Amino acid sequence: MKFQLPSLLLGLAASAASAQNQTGPFYLQIVGQKNSSIMGYGNSCHTGAGMEGLCYGPGQVPESIVASFEYYFNYTGNTVVDDAQVGQVIWKLPYTDSNGNTALEPQTLGLQFTTDSNVASTNFGLGECSSDLNVGFDADGKLFAWNYIDDSTFTPGTNPVPSGVGKAYYQWYVCYIYYTGYYYQAIGWSATSPPHNPTCQPVDIIQVFPSS
Ligand SMILES: *[C@@H]1O[C@H](CO)[C@@H](O)[C@H](O)[C@H]1NC(C)=O
Ligand SMILES: *[C@@H]1O[C@H](CO)[C@@H](O)[C@H](O)[C@H]1NC(C)=O
Ligand SMILES: *[C@@H]1O[C@H](CO)[C@@H](O)[C@H](O)[C@H]1NC(C)=O
Repeated sequence: MKFQLPSLLLGLAASAASAQNQTGPFYLQIVGQKNSSIMGYGNSCHTGAGMEGLCYGPGQVPESIVASFEYYFNYTGNTVVDDAQVGQVIWKLPYTDSNGNTALEPQTLGLQFTTDSNVASTNFGLGECSSDLNVGFDADGKLFAWNYIDDSTFTPGTNPVPSGVGKAYYQWYVCYIYYTGYYYQAIGWSATSPPHNPTCQPVDIIQVFPSS
């Protein structure tokens, strides 16, 4: 899918770049836990102008639309947990530039919560619609999200003084998600367990490099 992007949004997204290493492209394989029938791949699906969700597609990666299934990982080398780099997952949005050529705009994976649920939707967006989620791939290739502060350990008035090491969390689900009028099956993140959304099924997300 291609469409015009406002140049203001592109400028905002580009200004976030700094010295980073990138790996990819790779696929995000989605495997259900327990006796789940979920088995497929993540793909970027349209959820608004310049916005995509990380959708669940059952089965294999379809060769005709492979670009929607290809992701990249950016990291600076500054943050490591259990020997795994912490960085961002990126999808490259195709768009038509001012000369009518196809160009790619990188978008980072983020989470969006609503007021009344512990389940966030996953989103790739531009400008104020983007939020960088800190993630990485562990020794088994499993996608984790990283945070360095655990508010369950807080005491009144005492700054928790983060160690800077942080922890890897695995709270991925495949859920039916409602977002800007769309209702679709996609990756969700449940901040606590169990998820408020009864359609959520726990999954692992695994980095798979195409064999070739
Ligand atoms: C990711 O890393 C690449 C390679 O260093 C860089 O060109 C790009 O600006 C970085 N950020 C994003 C969001 O792609
Ligand atoms: C998986 O299914 C089997 C057979 O139906 C059942 O015995 C087992 O308890 C299930 N395991 C889980 C984790 O739900
Ligand atoms: C980033 O890439 C450069 C060039 O390949 C390499 O020398 C460096 O070790 C990489 N940094 C990390 C943290 O992997």
